[in-house]
Amino acid sequence: MNKWSGKAYTQRYYEILEKRRSLPVYAQKQEFLQCLMSNQTLILVGETGSGKTTQIPQFVLEALHEKNPSKCLVGCTQPRRVAAMSVAKRVAEEMDVSIGEEVGYTVRFEDCTSSKTVLKYLTDGMLLREAMADPLLQRYKVIVLDEAHERTLSTDLLFGLLKRVLRNRPDLKLVVMSATLEAEKCLKYFSGAPLMKVPGRLHPVEIFYTPEPERDYLDAAIRTVVQIHMFEPPGDVLVFLTGEEEIEDACQKIVGKLGDQVNVLPLYSSLPPAMQQKIFDPPTENVRKIVVSTNIAETSLTIDGIVYVVDPGFAKQKIYNPKTRVESLLVSSISKASANQRAGRAGRTRPGKCFRLYTEKSFNNDLIEQTYPEILRSNLANTVLTLNKLGIDNLVSFKFMDPPAPVTLERALIDLIDLGALDGDEDKLGNLTRTGEMMSEFPLDPQMAKMLIISPKFNCSNEILSISAMLSVPNCFIRPRGEAQKEADAARAKFGHVDGDHLTLLNVYHAYKQNNGDSKWCYDNYINHKAMKSADNVREQLVRIMSKFNLKMCSSDFNSRDYYTNIRKALLAGYFMQVAHLDRSGRYLTVKDEQMVHLHPSCCLDHKPEWVVYNEYVLTSRNFIRTVTYIRGEWLEEVAPHYYHLSNLPNCEAKRALQKLSKKRDRRGNLK
Ligand code: CDP
Ligand code: MG
Repeated sequence: MNKWSGKAYTQRYYEILEKRRSLPVYAQKQEFLQCLMSNQTLILVGETGSGKTTQIPQFVLEALHEKNPSKCLVGCTQPRRVAAMSVAKRVAEEMDVSIGEEVGYTVRFEDCTSSKTVLKYLTDGMLLREAMADPLLQRYKVIVLDEAHERTLSTDLLFGLLKRVLRNRPDLKLVVMSATLEAEKCLKYFSGAPLMKVPGRLHPVEIFYTPEPERDYLDAAIRTVVQIHMFEPPGDVLVFLTGEEEIEDACQKIVGKLGDQVNVLPLYSSLPPAMQQKIFDPPTENVRKIVVSTNIAETSLTIDGIVYVVDPGFAKQKIYNPKTRVESLLVSSISKASANQRAGRAGRTRPGKCFRLYTEKSFNNDLIEQTYPEILRSNLANTVLTLNKLGIDNLVSFKFMDPPAPVTLERALIDLIDLGALDGDEDKLGNLTRTGEMMSEFPLDPQMAKMLIISPKFNCSNEILSISAMLSVPNCFIRPRGEAQKEADAARAKFGHVDGDHLTLLNVYHAYKQNNGDSKWCYDNYINHKAMKSADNVREQLVRIMSKFNLKMCSSDFNSRDYYTNIRKALLAGYFMQVAHLDRSGRYLTVKDEQMVHLHPSCCLDHKPEWVVYNEYVLTSRNFIRTVTYIRGEWLEEVAPHYYHLSNLPNCEAKRALQKLSKKRDRRGNLK
């Protein structure tokens, strides 16, 4: 009998149980439980695929249940939302319960749990959010911090936070799990915590390098896959690429070359869950499976049956330059640790091969040992806001595992002061303002939160909500390759707004609602239905937060001349730090930081306005600004007088333009 559902176990349960029992962690179940009983914190290191994520939380749960069958809650964090969702589904199956009941997951904008939930997988970011409302995390009996080696920003903050919580809650237990981990560092950090090792069951993996550097890694990757398929014995292939577009492109090319002799499956975070699930489908006989994935498959998800790994040596990584204030995802070289993890994926079921598309010399000389923790590569404005909300206003005394650079922290503080989230000035750090309090409750970046909070003042909160929702979901425009591309572009052009991309997104949202969210309408117009549904859902959740703070939902009269002006001003009131100015030579320079940028090819503007506000800075072969809207220079001083005070601007063309505008205004004032 299933003690959770009260029903008899299904056949499937026993089938999976068999498999579970063969996982390496199973052999150490008793040792683990003993260790957990006698310690508050425990560090567990085990090779990817040894069963940590799926089994350990269940072990904990069983032990808790035995001691006290009344309701208990175990939380297990994951850096990636895909992993949280997929693992939760798997574990629900293993426990023979329905997902969302006893076993659930919580990721940003989606909560799939109920009052019955006893085991919850959640992103590290969500646990941090929960701590804002429940600083001692009272709901949890045990917290499992998984994938600690990834050293995401949120995981690092949780380390510091949990250290404090554990001191105040002797009944709480913490399990830190990781695939590699610089165990020394972690042990030192949680001094006194025992380390438990789960020996992996890795088979040898033979490593091949290219004799010469590859000019085009995508090309080389596809060529390598074809060669593996033609010359190597059966076994599935895992290819690491950097992002959605590249992966889709590669998948198409591989199918083009090998047809249905192979089963080619993409894997990336914005892929619909049903498609993600496909990589776990049992193999079809005589058909080689080829998974083309981002570094999700490096440690977060284990795919059985992989024998060959193709590693071009790149991943999209966040980088941040506090001087130019540019945070961007950049395709960059992975670390040696990552390369070794990737290779390891080939040896799970039997001896495997890893094809590195770089030279051995490059591996030895160019790759760094470990990827730098995210906290050293991020804009920390949100972090500072979060920590403040958690009651940690003295950042210097916060126990970071790797303290961020002072210049980055300083930058974050100044940005928050400029946004009105903190009072005080650059010399003396103040407290969270009322605006700052509200900002910290939105699961959004500080600028977007600010824009929402201020939008009622511009009489357009309804529209700003829609735009924010659209900006928070994957791209709504579908752009197929080949024949249909022209048609898709024409469909997209119909939504285009002369003043820019934010307003185009608003048009799409409005049209979607007018058509009652019809999926056929989406299909006909090359609009991603799933993205629109999530936008609707996100919007609803943002409305709830707005209502909580009594922020008014309002719109200007659609026929009034101010309708779009108000929206553009509200955009600017949030994103005034992201403005670019067109100089006489026809180049855009970001204001204050003076970075040369180009309008992204996807931009809908048919001319180059003098001033634009942008949502995102994209670093690729060139510096692009993406999602761009035309604004007027006069508004800058109106919405952000301090920030755009002439004395605060470097000597540049933008400053001279603003000077002129200011003189003009003064003259007009005098006339009046
Ligand atoms: O966390 P760790 O990498 O140690 O392993 P895990 O994620 O718990 O995976 C253990 C095993 O569970 C894998 O080898 C898969 O066979 C299976 N699994 C699965 O079939 N479907 C999933 N969605 C996740 C895991
Ligand atoms: Mg895992």
